[in-house]
Amino acid sequence: MLSFAVIIISVNTAIEYFSFVTIEKQMMEKADLRELSFREVLSKHDKAEEAGQPSDVARSALETLKASGKEVRIYDSNQKLLGLAVDGIIINNKTPVIFAGNIQNALKGNYAYTVSDDHLLYFAIPIQDKYYQNSYVFEFVEDISYFYTMMDQIRYILFAGAGGFIILITISSLFIARNTTKPIKYLLGATESFSRQQFREVHLNRKDELGMLAAGLNRMGIQLSDYIQYQKQFVSNVSHELKTPLAAIKGFSQYLYEGENEDEELQKIYYHLVNESDRLTLLINELLMLSRFDKAGPDEMDTEKTDLTQLAEQVATGVRAKADSKGIELTIRQGPHAFVYVNQVLMSHAIANVLDNAIKYSDPRTRISIEVLIREQEAIVQISDQGIGISADEIARVQERFYRARNASAAGGTGLGLSICKEIAEKFGGHLSLESQLGAGTSVSIHLPLL
Ligand SMILES: Nc1ncnc2c1ncn2[C@@H]1O[C@H](COP(=O)(O)OP(=O)(O)OP(=O)(O)O)[C@@H](O)[C@H]1O
Ligand SMILES: [Mg+2]
Repeated sequence: MLSFAVIIISVNTAIEYFSFVTIEKQMMEKADLRELSFREVLSKHDKAEEAGQPSDVARSALETLKASGKEVRIYDSNQKLLGLAVDGIIINNKTPVIFAGNIQNALKGNYAYTVSDDHLLYFAIPIQDKYYQNSYVFEFVEDISYFYTMMDQIRYILFAGAGGFIILITISSLFIARNTTKPIKYLLGATESFSRQQFREVHLNRKDELGMLAAGLNRMGIQLSDYIQYQKQFVSNVSHELKTPLAAIKGFSQYLYEGENEDEELQKIYYHLVNESDRLTLLINELLMLSRFDKAGPDEMDTEKTDLTQLAEQVATGVRAKADSKGIELTIRQGPHAFVYVNQVLMSHAIANVLDNAIKYSDPRTRISIEVLIREQEAIVQISDQGIGISADEIARVQERFYRARNASAAGGTGLGLSICKEIAEKFGGHLSLESQLGAGTSVSIHLPLL
């Protein structure tokens, strides 16, 4: 914009300068002709004087040149006005405005001119006598307002053109910017949804680099989606295939363990077999649940309006026996009714998982409390224990699949429980949050959007 203004100002100045130079040249040509005429009068006067006839130079020159300008003036070498003609008529009794500087300059032998405020050009030329003395100044006045009108028109055209050009440039740059940012935003949106594992077709109807990028992204999305689908299917198939042989192993080992057997060593092995097959069954069940999750879309869930407090109580009743057997006191604090929109089986599973951890990672004669809270637009099930706690650097990681904290090795587990809880909560628009202090206890909250 600034450079554009500089260009316009320069062009305007240049036009003004060259136009004025042209006018100046024209005036000089006119002045030369008038000087010639004046000199003729002078030479006639010299001849008349030689012949002894009286002659008034100024008067004769004015007579000859009176029509050679809008106004014509003759001065002597003392800057005294000797004659004046306006519009070709000689006027005797009028003293016009005189630009003295102009006359002085001319008397030094130069062409001199001044432009008045009403756009009249006063052009003065020195007239030399036979002794080469500047004894007269001839001044003629030209109206050059046409020049200013022309300059105004040029300026108008220049500014109008520049304005139009700026508007055109702005519109076209806006168009170009829109044309490039819109597809970039579209591609950005696509990559963001890819990162959330939501794959959709990416297509831009253009043949340039952006179009190629879109096509590449689309191919990548298809491959990624296929790969993830394959991976999920694989886990699901393997888990499923393992279920039947595992049930057989568990059945047989249980049979052997419970059977009559005197050998203590063998009995220990059978016991170990039962435990390990139990652990494997749990792992397979959790893997199956995860893969079912991965496959199911939000609409495939069987959701219903559920009282979270009631659901938490039901789950607590289910695990009470386990807590009792470890000498842990399980209390439910009576809270408000909090309605959420969830799949009840999955939600029970999530709460049971958190409770299972609380029992598993707590020592006997400690307490576990369950509380349902309402905070802003959220319903929260909070399960707090007085167990071994989780170190600060591991809190962020325990929600990851298969992650087990360092101090959890004494208790059995696969490291999948919390990640399943997290996914269940997220499936219904919620999330998990954990607070814990090593050696003091842990508080796990399942947050869900309130109905
Ligand atoms: N209440 C708790 N107190 C202390 N540590 C906990 C508690 N809950 C979870 N953790 C830590 O978080 C880790 C992950 O828990 P998660 O439930 O996912 O797995 P897990 O209990 O080890 O195995 P499982 O898959 O059988 O539940 C646990 O191994 C444990 O270290
Ligand atoms: Mg667990």
